[in-house]
Amino acid sequence: MPPDKPLNLIAACAENRVMGRQGKPPWHIPEDFAWLQEKTAGTVVVLGRLTFAAWPRARLDGRRPVVITRDRSLAGGGVLVADSVPSALAIAQRLPGEIMVCGGQRVFAETLLLAHRLYLTLVHAEIPGDAYFPEWRHLAWREVSRRESHDSRHRYTFFVLERS
Ligand SMILES: NC(=O)c1ccc[n+]([C@@H]2O[C@H](COP(=O)([O-])OP(=O)(O)OC[C@H]3O[C@@H](n4cnc5c(N)ncnc54)[C@H](OP(=O)(O)O)[C@@H]3O)[C@@H](O)[C@H]2O)c1
Repeated sequence: MPPDKPLNLIAACAENRVMGRQGKPPWHIPEDFAWLQEKTAGTVVVLGRLTFAAWPRARLDGRRPVVITRDRSLAGGGVLVADSVPSALAIAQRLPGEIMVCGGQRVFAETLLLAHRLYLTLVHAEIPGDAYFPEWRHLAWREVSRRESHDSRHRYTFFVLERS
């Protein structure tokens, strides 16, 4: 058996860990969306049903989606489905390519401790919302890179962190 491939998470959250509101992102940050598209192109993307439904390009640009849902009718046309995070990760391990876990809330909560690498866009604001990225600051991370940026409404930092 080949060794397990490392798990990567990619997320954007505010300082108060908010990452979604009423099923949508709580902001419109084109640079972050471009970062997500770039980092996940050609990878195996593991994501919950709502995150998949809200991302029309999830099955394009060489992405191979593994969608976590009880709805098996979503399978087909290159989309694989699993009814739990562990079975989604087992499927992802058997597919070629890097694994990128893309959310939502429960998916991140169940995978954060397994993550090797975290691509985190931290939006420097307290933002109201109803979907949260799990607590990550108390874990030991090595900073691989950071890049500060901003648009007319927000300041944000693109972090790449690895578990140390
Ligand atoms: N900023 C970011 O980085 C980021 C990333 C992703 C999402 N979001 C935001 O988060 C919100 C959507 O996320 P969400 O957490 O509400 O939904 P989600 O995880 O995308 O989808 C929820 C559905 O996925 C399935 N599911 C998710 N986790 C599961 C688990 N651990 N075990 C079994 N099934 C599971 C269930 O599907 P069934 O009901 O079909 O069984 C569940 O109803 C939106 O506001 C979105 O914009 C933000």
